[in-house]
Amino acid sequence: MKPNIATRVAEARKFLKRKSEAGFTIGLVPTMGFLHEGHLSLVRRARRENDTCVVSIFVNPLQFGPSEDFDAYPRDMDRDLDLLASEGVELVFSPGVKEVFSCDCSTIVSEKKLSGFLCGSARPGHFDGVCTIVLKLFNILRPDRAYFGEKDYQQLQVIRRMVRDLDMEVEVIGCPIVREEDGLALSSRNTYLSEAEREQALALSRALGEVRSVFADGERDCRSILAVVRKVVGSYPMVRLEYAEVCDAEDLSPVERVDRKVVVALAARVGRARLIDNTVLAP
Ligand code: PAF
Repeated sequence: MKPNIATRVAEARKFLKRKSEAGFTIGLVPTMGFLHEGHLSLVRRARRENDTCVVSIFVNPLQFGPSEDFDAYPRDMDRDLDLLASEGVELVFSPGVKEVFSCDCSTIVSEKKLSGFLCGSARPGHFDGVCTIVLKLFNILRPDRAYFGEKDYQQLQVIRRMVRDLDMEVEVIGCPIVREEDGLALSSRNTYLSEAEREQALALSRALGEVRSVFADGERDCRSILAVVRKVVGSYPMVRLEYAEVCDAEDLSPVERVDRKVVVALAARVGRARLIDNTVLAP
């Protein structure tokens, strides 16, 4: 069955208010559309764990820098709606920019610590944009649970922190990265890759595979772990590593030894795509 589509805040609120008044729980999957199996895995989990599943589709201008790919970001609403219909999603919230941000909008939400690490330096203001839209979606849609992919590991931790700090009544649930058979993490931006770049992009998951293997053999020194990453990525000439870091898995501060749960996080440019990937290591 086709999902209900709300393009207005008031419509979405009305639909979901009726559901929560009837005692139904609401699971939200926030997306920017151009859906792939990674998004659909979140949708399936949200459907399993809640009575009602709502998916938001909104390419949020606030989280793109001036030289980033807001205009080029892939969009295909018809295909997205077909996919969501086949997953049994009840409501799709897909507002226009003006419906979400009035022209004199002057409030942003800024997480001040975790947002500064990793992608924070290359994408100033990005996480303010993410926090602001996610908070607005939570306020509009009032979900009991919200589902995010662990590929955007920093985003997930920043949102968890925002929810904790602002006493928001929503459970944030992180879901495992979904990969192609050869290991490439699914991302809407993979569509930017040419065939040759797609092959080179495997550098990220292969480097993380090597990391897991040296970790399993007992390596705990982060400099050595990062040397492994650089060696693997260095053998892929079309890949420009932006960062490779080992961080505390919760607060994302850099660590020197794997003496607690950590995340090894990578970002790289391949052609015009900026790709990220990560793996969590727990001693
Ligand atoms: O991960 C994304 O697709 C976006 O950052 C999100 C969470 C939908 C906010 O725009």
